[in-house]
Amino acid sequence: MTDLPAEHDAAVTNRAILTGSAYSTGRDLAARQSLYRWQTPRYDLPGIIVDRLRQVRGTVVDVGCGNGKFISRLNQDLPDLRVVGLDVSLGILDGVPRPVMVADAERLPLRTGSVNAALALHMLYHVQDIPAAIKELGRVVTAEGIVIASTNSDRDKAELDRLWERAAGEVLGVDRGPSRISLSARFSLEKAPALLGAEFREIEAMELPGTIAVRTPEPVIAHMESYRAWADQHDVPFDATIARARAILTDHIDRCGAFRISCLGGILVCSR
Ligand SMILES: C[S@@+](CC[C@H](N)C(=O)[O-])C[C@H]1O[C@@H](n2cnc3c(N)ncnc32)[C@H](O)[C@@H]1O
Repeated sequence: MTDLPAEHDAAVTNRAILTGSAYSTGRDLAARQSLYRWQTPRYDLPGIIVDRLRQVRGTVVDVGCGNGKFISRLNQDLPDLRVVGLDVSLGILDGVPRPVMVADAERLPLRTGSVNAALALHMLYHVQDIPAAIKELGRVVTAEGIVIASTNSDRDKAELDRLWERAAGEVLGVDRGPSRISLSARFSLEKAPALLGAEFREIEAMELPGTIAVRTPEPVIAHMESYRAWADQHDVPFDATIARARAILTDHIDRCGAFRISCLGGILVCSR
């Protein structure tokens, strides 16, 4: 992928958008997460994280914990761990198991070497200074501690990107409309090892490929609508593009029986 324009980075990391809209509640995040119900194979991501933390004792901090999906599972499956949630958005922490803190990944309010593992799951791409946040993760974990990051590949859900461009093109009356914003591009699976490698010697990457097949447009439309916080960044009327995408999807499903999306996410387990 070529370098992204500065406006893209500014939009994906914009604090007012993140805390005031995109993650002011867990609604949009839940809509994105729920698309994976139609994925084959299905991955139990919280279960994978639990397995990686089985040998860890003490405290785990979940940086950018969002709606607390991982914290709930860790509390349930590894009750001896002390799990602390941290997010820049106060609103999304509503309902997340305590203790939680409102804080920025670039300036963690934790003492050096005070936690045994840190999670940064699908969140580093939203941080303004990614190397600074990775340094902070390295600072707060003990020398034997691990950091687990996750993100998506640059190739993830390419069919959704093409669908958006086609719908946007039809709205604007051009062959191919502008691309939609890519949330994970700044810290994609392809870029993550080099960025994490500046702080950690060992990086074990685990790829999680799959295919989503939907037989009604709704799950895909809900996923597209979850980008509403960035509607103004799309250079095309957002609702009109969604309406066109729905029509294209309906037609495709009527003719082919399903709409298929190829997915590639991954987890990176880092240690010194
Ligand atoms: C895509 S969600 C991921 C949530 C959760 N980790 C998961 O995987 O389900 C990204 C989360 O990171 C948070 N976030 C974004 N920038 C942050 C920052 N600089 N420091 C802490 N949290 C941040 C957002 O508020 C949001 O809750």
